[in-house]
Formats: sequence, structure tokens, C-alpha cells
Amino acid sequence: MKERPVVPREEMLRQQEFMKLVCSQDQRPHSYHIVSMGCQMNERDSESIAGMLEQMGMVHAPVREDADLILYNTCCVRENAENKALGNVIWLKELKKVKPELMICVGGCMTQEKGMAAMMKARYPFIDLVYGTHNLYRLPEYVYRVLTQKRPVVEVVDTDGEIVEGMPEKRRNRFNAFVNIMYGCNNFCTYCIVPYVRGRERSRTPEAVIAECVRLQDEGAQEIMLLGQNVNSYRGGGAEFAELLQRIDRLGIPRIRFMTSHPKDLSDELIHAFGELKHLMPQLHLPVQAGSNEILRRMNRSYTREHYLDLVRRLRAVCPDIGLTSDIIVGFPGETLEQFEETMSLVRQVRFDAAYTFIYSPRKGTKAATYPDDTPYAVKSERIQRLIDLQQAIALEVLEAQVGKRETVLVEAVSTRDSHWVAGKTPRGHMVNFAGDPSLIGRFADVEITSAGRNTLRGRIINPEG
Ligand code: SAH
Ligand code: SF4
Ligand code: F3S
Repeated sequence: MKERPVVPREEMLRQQEFMKLVCSQDQRPHSYHIVSMGCQMNERDSESIAGMLEQMGMVHAPVREDADLILYNTCCVRENAENKALGNVIWLKELKKVKPELMICVGGCMTQEKGMAAMMKARYPFIDLVYGTHNLYRLPEYVYRVLTQKRPVVEVVDTDGEIVEGMPEKRRNRFNAFVNIMYGCNNFCTYCIVPYVRGRERSRTPEAVIAECVRLQDEGAQEIMLLGQNVNSYRGGGAEFAELLQRIDRLGIPRIRFMTSHPKDLSDELIHAFGELKHLMPQLHLPVQAGSNEILRRMNRSYTREHYLDLVRRLRAVCPDIGLTSDIIVGFPGETLEQFEETMSLVRQVRFDAAYTFIYSPRKGTKAATYPDDTPYAVKSERIQRLIDLQQAIALEVLEAQVGKRETVLVEAVSTRDSHWVAGKTPRGHMVNFAGDPSLIGRFADVEITSAGRNTLRGRIINPEG
């Protein structure tokens, strides 16, 4: 992977000047609301966006309609993600009629799609700002231009993107943090639009990543999630991902997780890290996508079913309790019933803790969008339902096998079902609900698992500081 230039410090200082300039405007937005769609990369970007908007003098408005500035951080990985983003934006047109001073901003992966910005400019002139994934750090300058020029700004750049260091940020909480280690993707799986909208792979230096982890640790981080489209191909300053993990492990942050791993690049060193590193949690998201070699080949995944199953075997040999999760696509163009059955049999064999299942969605500009696809949608729906049913039955069995165990849980939030309950994750990544006080949030608790539900566990607290 090529080393990529870092956006110069002068440019970041220039953006800081724009933040001050926005603050000094009389008629500026005072509050903001961000709608973050898509994956963790977008969530992490939204934390930087929130940081920049706050430095422009705005406060967070929990209710979208109350905000002076609404920003959509969009996703386009499947057609329904794109439709959702566009549907939401069109709805804002109505809001703007009653609130003309509202500033509407749209950015993220969807706006980076070829032709999308021009289409939005022509069809949705009520949008004040459209920017892409590569120029997010220039948001302060764009907001300033919208305010002073009093006309929309549409700016999506086609460069592959540089590394941006030192953006402001407002993290979702202090105990559980996302850390980007790389951006972009070079894999060009034939169904996937991500390489087109996120650009080529580029890694942050280990020094930049470690410095961020140390700062987060000082601020109280108990768990960090390292992020990249394919963390296994991380190459920062000559270091490989397994080396980076070792260095982060030595910092002593209690919990480390990472995502996403590509099976073709999962190295022996990384497999062994699950047996050796003290703080690396026994959980791995390792998307298999399909169980048929022919489909995997046409997806350009560069591994076989046998290779994947061998990885699973080796991971479980070093870490018997590892929780494996996956993404699976059903109805890839030309998928036969037999090929789908191979996915079913792989799922039976691996026994994932959880799997995110998707019906294949053609994305313009990708190779698979040109492949003939004669399977009716109804057949694809039937297949995915069978897969969901199978995976749910397996997940329930996996969860039931946890009953009776004592687990250390990092409490994350008040439970969605009962305000006297809290919820948090076990090392393996299972969500546990148990009766407890909100003051436990951000802390560890020792919990005995008492029962299993469809997707989560229930437990009883043993002591509040595990
Ligand atoms: N980098 C990650 C995944 C990013 S996209 C990886 O390599 O695994 C998240 C998931 O969306 C993918 O794993 C895939 O299962 C799914 N996906 C991507 N493009 C899709 C498409 N065109 N149709 C259906 N699902 C898709
Ligand atoms: Fe998409 Fe494949 Fe890259 Fe993942 S590895 S982001 S699925 S192209
Ligand atoms: Fe969506 Fe972009 Fe993530 S397309 S899945 S938000 S990288």
C-alpha cells in the first residue's frame, strides 16, 4: 500500500480560521443535528463533523427539526441506503419552506458517487452544501462560503484522498472509542461500491494511531475499536497490522477490538495475536460473503470456502471461545440454488455468533452490475429468509451456551427495554442486559448470565467493579 500524504498543517490551520470566521457571523446557525447512516467509518466521521460544528459555535440539537443546520452523512453501499438518504433529504425541502434559514448539508459516500453531486445540484437546489468523502476536513470553509455567498456550495473532489490528522472531534462517549487506522479499499469485490467512494487504501502511521490511543486512554477509554475497510492490509510506516496491535496492546487499554478483516489477508501473526495479546477481545468480524467457490470467484474475494474454513479452525485452535461474525450476500447474480445451499452449509459448519445478511443490490459502476441476473427477487427473498432462520437458531444456541457463565461486562447504556436495567458487552461481544444503575455506564461489572434471548443475554450483577 502506498504511503499517502498528510493534509498539510497550514491547511488545517486555515480551516481553524474559517471556524472562527463562522463564529463571528451574525446570521449563523446556532445548533446542529447530524444524521449518520452506514458503517462505523461514517460514525467516526460524524464525530469529526460534530467537533468542527461545535468549534463553529454550534450546539447539538437532539431533535432534528429544532436544529439550524442539519447534516446527512450518507451511505450508498446498497440501493436501500441510498433511497433512505435521498428520501430524507427530499423531506427537508418541506421543513425548509417553514424554516428558510435552515442550512442543509449532505456529505459522505453517496455524494461521492459518480454523477450524484451534479444530479443533486440540479434536482435539489434547496440543499445548501454538498461535499464528498475526500474533502470533509474543509467543512468549515464550505459552511463559511454558504453563509457569505448566500448560494449553494457543491464540491466533491475526485482525488483518492489524503490522510487527515488533527481534525476536531466530539466523541460519542469517553469509555468506548473508534480509532481509524486506515482509509479506503483496494479490493474491488465485484459487487461493492466502497472502493469507488472511499478511494485507495492509505494507512495512518503507527505513531499517529498510538498517539490517539494514548490520548483516549488518558481521557478514560476502556475499549477501543480500530477501524478500516480491510485492517489486515494495514501498512503504516512499514508496520503490519499485527505489529500495530502488539504496540497498542502494550498501552494497557482494557479492551481492543477491530473491524473489518478480509479473509484473504488474515495473517498467521494476527491469528496468533488472539492467543497472545492480553487486551485483544475474543471477537472477530470475518465476512465470508458466500459459501460457494464459484460465487466467491465471481465476487473477486480471492479465497475459497476451504481457505475460510481453515482460518476458522486455526482461530478456534488458538482461541477456543472466539466469537465469529460475518456478512453474507444472498442472490449474487447467477447464484443457483445449489450455490445458495453451499452458503447454508458453511453457516451450519462455522456457527457464527451473528451474521448480517443482505440481498445483493446492483451498484452502478461496479463489475457485478453488468452480470446477468435471472433469479427473481421473490426467490432471493425466500433464500434470505431461510438463511436468517438458520442463523437465528444457531445464534440462540450460542447464546444459550453462555448461560451460567460469569462474564466481565463493559456497561454501555441504559437498557432499551427498562430504565432500571443497563446493557453492555462481554469480551466475546455478546450484549447482556441486567438490573443496574445508570452510574455503572462506562465501568466494568461482573455479571452472571442467567438466560438467553433471541439476540441478547440476561444476567445478574455480582459486583459492580469487575
Ligand atoms: N470492508 C468490509 C465491508 C464493507 S460493506 C468487508 O470487506 O467486509 C459491508 C457489507 O455490505 C459487505 O461485507 C457486504 O456483505 C455488504 N455489501 C456490500 N456491497 C453490497 C451490495 N452491492 N449488495 C449487497 N450487499 C453488499
Ligand atoms: Fe467492499 Fe470488498 Fe473492499 Fe470490503 S473488501 S469494502 S466488500 S470492496
Ligand atoms: Fe456505507 Fe460508505 Fe460505510 S458506503 S457502508 S458508509 S464506507
